[in-house]
Amino acid sequence: MFPLADRMKLVSDSITLAVSAKANALKKAGVDVVGFGAGEPDFDTPVFIKEAAKSSLDQGQTKYTPTPCFPELRAAIAAKFNHENGLPYKPDQITTGAGGKHCLYMAFMAVLNPGDEVIIPSPYWVSYPEQIKLAGATPRFVRGEEANSFKITPKQLERAIGPRTRGFLINSPSNPSGVAYSPEELRALAEVIAKHPQIVVFSDEIYEKLIYDGLKFVSFATLHPSLMDRTLTFNCHSKSFAMTGWRVGYIGGPKAAIDAINKLQSQMTSHITSFTQIPAATALTDPRGAESVETMRQQFEKRGRHMWERLSALPKVTCVRPNGAFYCFPNVSAYFGKTAAGTQITDAVSFAAGLLEQNHVAVVPGNDSGFDTHVRLSFATSLEQIDKGIDRIAQFLQKLN
Ligand SMILES: Cc1ncc(COP(=O)(O)O)c(C=O)c1O
Repeated sequence: MFPLADRMKLVSDSITLAVSAKANALKKAGVDVVGFGAGEPDFDTPVFIKEAAKSSLDQGQTKYTPTPCFPELRAAIAAKFNHENGLPYKPDQITTGAGGKHCLYMAFMAVLNPGDEVIIPSPYWVSYPEQIKLAGATPRFVRGEEANSFKITPKQLERAIGPRTRGFLINSPSNPSGVAYSPEELRALAEVIAKHPQIVVFSDEIYEKLIYDGLKFVSFATLHPSLMDRTLTFNCHSKSFAMTGWRVGYIGGPKAAIDAINKLQSQMTSHITSFTQIPAATALTDPRGAESVETMRQQFEKRGRHMWERLSALPKVTCVRPNGAFYCFPNVSAYFGKTAAGTQITDAVSFAAGLLEQNHVAVVPGNDSGFDTHVRLSFATSLEQIDKGIDRIAQFLQKLN
């Protein structure tokens, strides 16, 4: 056996990977699979951003850059935070990373110590606990109940804080629940955190632009005067500008934390890809950026409402109405203990596997997000695909009845 580092034992194998591998194998074999698994927009990157990348290449932006990024991008991100979010970060309080994921990982590595606990509301994005464990710290989950639209309450948060609590992670709008907290709900959580000055906040705001039903987005660090000095704000171009493959993420935060993250990055990846940087700035500063985001947002809102209405009409399925991101997170546990064509359904993984094998619809089991009773469906797909997929889910459920 090849000798691996002990830290690899800290990282769990993804139990959902088996389902996505099976979906890919079916597609490769020519089966018409309806895919609700993807966590990325089905739209292409807006043309003006792609043109900016071509011009970056033509202008020779192909060499090493400063670790945080070119000054133009740092300034554009600082301006975005100031004007859109009311976060008065200066350019030297900004850095970038290879997507939101890499930004979060670098921040955990730069801030957390072994023994530290980080409070994570569940359901949660799958990588948070794994990254936090790799940084030597311990995730502490606080369950957002379905009856409360998967949101945690200030009381729950207060109860979870103990002597070892060093971090609080908040992700609104959320993957996988598709739920965004209201400004008032976030403020109530911020007031709890404000009473505990040892807690650093990691605010994952990457779905900021994908928010529905007229809800207003607010950045967590603006919610209490004491938070600016101990919050790291994460964002990226992946979801809002349909740029998942570009790997552009960014962080705003106190200068000491940003300097530490830059020190880490300078020994790791050096910086993000040179010719993505000016296009990433263009996406933020050119008015066509905001227009493209709004066009996509309106499409997602329409699709999300439609998917939610169709899911809610399925017998014995409950589904919280999504008001952010592009996910529905229905509860399918009423079907556990039933059998379809010889497959026993016991949890979200066997439900997803049975649905894929028998009716060719790919969904993500909630197990890796802390909910083995729910499955995640992405509505980053067309209305036709949504109807086709949910018709098939209805047929699958009928077999289980
Ligand atoms: C909540 C959340 N945070 C961070 C990320 C990572 O984003 P990126 O693709 O920019 O690395 C994702 C991606 O799915 C996400 O859903």
